Amino acid sequence: MRASSHRLNRRDFTKATLLAGAAVASGAVAAISETPRRIRTGVIGCGSVSNSYLPVLTQCPYVAVVSVCDIRPERARKQAEKFHVAHHYPHLNAMLAGEPFEFLINLTDMQEHEHLNRQALAAGKHVWSEKPIANSLAAGQQLLRTAKAKQRRLWGAPITVQSPQFAFMARTLAQGALGRVAAAHADYGHEGPNWSSFFYEKGGGSMPDLGVYNLTTLTGLLGPAKHVAAMVSIVTPEREITEKGKIKVTEEDNAMVLLDHGRGVISHVQSGFNYFNPHGHEGSGEQRHTVTIVGSRGFLGLVGYDWAPQGVDLATQQQPQMARQATDARGYIWQQGAALAAECLATGRELLVTPEQALHVLEIITAARQSQATGRRVTLRSTFKWPILS
Ligand SMILES: NC(=O)c1ccc[n+]([C@@H]2O[C@H](COP(=O)([O-])OP(=O)(O)OC[C@H]3O[C@@H](n4cnc5c(N)ncnc54)[C@H](O)[C@@H]3O)[C@@H](O)[C@H]2O)c1
Repeated sequence: MRASSHRLNRRDFTKATLLAGAAVASGAVAAISETPRRIRTGVIGCGSVSNSYLPVLTQCPYVAVVSVCDIRPERARKQAEKFHVAHHYPHLNAMLAGEPFEFLINLTDMQEHEHLNRQALAAGKHVWSEKPIANSLAAGQQLLRTAKAKQRRLWGAPITVQSPQFAFMARTLAQGALGRVAAAHADYGHEGPNWSSFFYEKGGGSMPDLGVYNLTTLTGLLGPAKHVAAMVSIVTPEREITEKGKIKVTEEDNAMVLLDHGRGVISHVQSGFNYFNPHGHEGSGEQRHTVTIVGSRGFLGLVGYDWAPQGVDLATQQQPQMARQATDARGYIWQQGAALAAECLATGRELLVTPEQALHVLEIITAARQSQATGRRVTLRSTFKWPILS
């Protein structure tokens, strides 16, 4: 094709630039349609993380947030006012019976996701769920079967596989630059949330809240795990929670998980709610390698957290001096998963995130608990399409 046929006239260029700008805001890099269809969206759960999601959703050209919902109705009302959402409801039944919508974004307590996702899918809604999608692999697989039977989509956070740094690492591994891949390590922890008790109750814990990011990244880079061996513990048996006072911690707040990915590759993920962390919940200050992968001829180190990565350091036999790569975020932010899902519904542009991988990670977490309880390694049943290359 000749270069001149690529040229845009001034009007087309302005239109393309405006649309590209809007698409970048939602993380899109392709499949820009002229008048994006806005997906009528309801958000359930108006707590802490809704303050990260709603600014992205209300700016996304593929989303119309028509309702918000929380069993603490004052929270739903406040978020509706703050983000100019027309309708707010005190529970899912009222939301489903109220203003029509097609896409539910579930930002409630971890233990609430499964039954709310089930009810929304049964009512014919597409669902984006914060982690975990369900409380067990079997329940999650049933949700996925319901979604498929009803021709609806189901996705779950986190979206670490969507970052350009993940893409660089996946490409580098696929090219064989590390030689024979042997081992990987990832860690994520902080002092633990103090605003809600569900993080420390059955079905909560540091693995589904924090370890889930690393487990998604490492299974995404090294492939589905075949076996899990783990030790988990409770370091702080009582916690002080805002508005609630002292609570008992009944789910792990400290976890060490070993994964066998096959082909001899072994990785390790550690997470916990008792980690001194000078960077708190802000990702931008962390400069450590929180994910490292080593092979017979090379090393990869992800700079910062995998949910807010800042670059990748690569050293190989040919270039042993560590060199920093992939420092451009290219619009990626961890909060944009539901907006990307809405874009997929509107344009057909597929995500790298899949419910099959989210369910595999869920199985790893439940297997880690089983390994702790039995003292044995646990063989996994689930898998997902791999490699994940963009
Ligand atoms: N807070 C963060 O920075 C953060 C970041 C990433 C992911 N997440 C994930 O987001 C989810 C929510 O975490 P959070 O920190 O926002 O918790 P939160 O306690 O601040 O908010 C949860 C909200 O859900 C509401 N809720 C609970 N059950 C409900 C139900 N059945 N129907 C309607 N509303 C219900 C609660 O009243 C509360 O307002 C969790 O899965 C967490 O792992 C949180």
